[in-house]
Amino acid sequence: MAIVSPSSAHNFVVSVCIGLGSESTEAHLVADQLVGANLAGHDSHGIGMLPSYVAGAVNGHLKVNQTPKITTDAGALVVFDGQSGFGQVNGYEAMNEGIKRAEQFGVAIIGLRNSYHIGRIGHWAEQCAVAKMASVHFVNVIGHTPLVAPHGGAQSRFGTNPFCAAVPGKGNEPAALLDMATSIIAGGKARVAYNRGDLVPMGTVIDASGQLSNDPAPVMRLMNNDQDAGALVAFGEHKGSGLAIMCELLSAALLGGETSQPENARNSKIINNMLSLIIDPSATGEYEAFSDEVERYLTYIAETKPRSDTKEVLLPGQPEAKARLARAEGFDVDVVTVNHLSSAAQAAGIDQVTSQDLLGVTMQ
Ligand SMILES: NC(=O)c1ccc[n+]([C@@H]2O[C@H](COP(=O)([O-])OP(=O)(O)OC[C@H]3O[C@@H](n4cnc5c(N)ncnc54)[C@H](O)[C@@H]3O)[C@@H](O)[C@H]2O)c1
Repeated sequence: MAIVSPSSAHNFVVSVCIGLGSESTEAHLVADQLVGANLAGHDSHGIGMLPSYVAGAVNGHLKVNQTPKITTDAGALVVFDGQSGFGQVNGYEAMNEGIKRAEQFGVAIIGLRNSYHIGRIGHWAEQCAVAKMASVHFVNVIGHTPLVAPHGGAQSRFGTNPFCAAVPGKGNEPAALLDMATSIIAGGKARVAYNRGDLVPMGTVIDASGQLSNDPAPVMRLMNNDQDAGALVAFGEHKGSGLAIMCELLSAALLGGETSQPENARNSKIINNMLSLIIDPSATGEYEAFSDEVERYLTYIAETKPRSDTKEVLLPGQPEAKARLARAEGFDVDVVTVNHLSSAAQAAGIDQVTSQDLLGVTMQ
């Protein structure tokens, strides 16, 4: 394993994006989100995503220096086309506009279609929470062979379609933030396990013969467009599977984006569509009263006595807060990912210094 310092990782991502031709603001937005995901404990959506962005930019699937284009403007409803640009720019711009509209109308419904990968969805809910807005986000993801099977199925039919909801707190952090893939494990978590030579929890994968499995390899094969490789399992039986299907319909079909049905292109171009509801708590009453009730409620939940087989009861968002404390000085990156980052840096035109120098890694 390698220990990477957050500032070196940030500089590294900025350098690689600038190598791809990004303007400085774009490069910083990408670095903020990717390193932020590592710090929040989600390596699946951290700097390990950068090689796929470099590949996308080199093969023309990901367009640098785009800004999202408004295609519908109906006051509290705005739809953007992300024009295959960096999701980190599209998400940031779309949320900024949504916050302004919610300040004006009390609520905003923001559609973002046809964006390159928008990463960790909690990042967008956090942007809303800093502006004291509650938010709900439905997302689909397409590009390669779908990864997740519908409940009862042995073949993959949709993406790991994340759902996210957050309420703001008294400071800049959300009081609670639920941010989850609708598969039991995110696809990126299977990638991280595979790169580390680890297994995933039993029953989270279906192998090519239709059996439940703990082997992440079928997920890697699906990501490489082997349609018969198996699937990831949706969380919560029929309920998670149903939520994933609603994510496709609400974030893609409703906004003129592409669902995972096979007539839509599967050419390894990683596209997200997102429907966001942004709500100003001050529009429904006093912010202070809302915030006090949120605090009393969450304290009540947090004080629940743990079950005999658990040590603690956590609120949604607390695991990420704990990870930020534990990772503030640095985080682990596996050697396979360091090598992928090194190759990506070279593909982006950075070859004077080694990636290990750029990343500031200490090998262990
Ligand atoms: N852009 C995309 O296409 C895409 C696709 C899928 C997932 N994602 C992202 O992947 C990331 C990881 O998703 P995941 O499903 O693996 O997350 P996860 O399972 O680690 O966590 C899901 C949620 O549960 C909460 N949680 C975790 N453990 C808890 C516990 N013990 N008690 C109480 N709450 C707990 C977390 O705070 C989080 O809100 C998310 O940030 C998601 O947005 C993105």
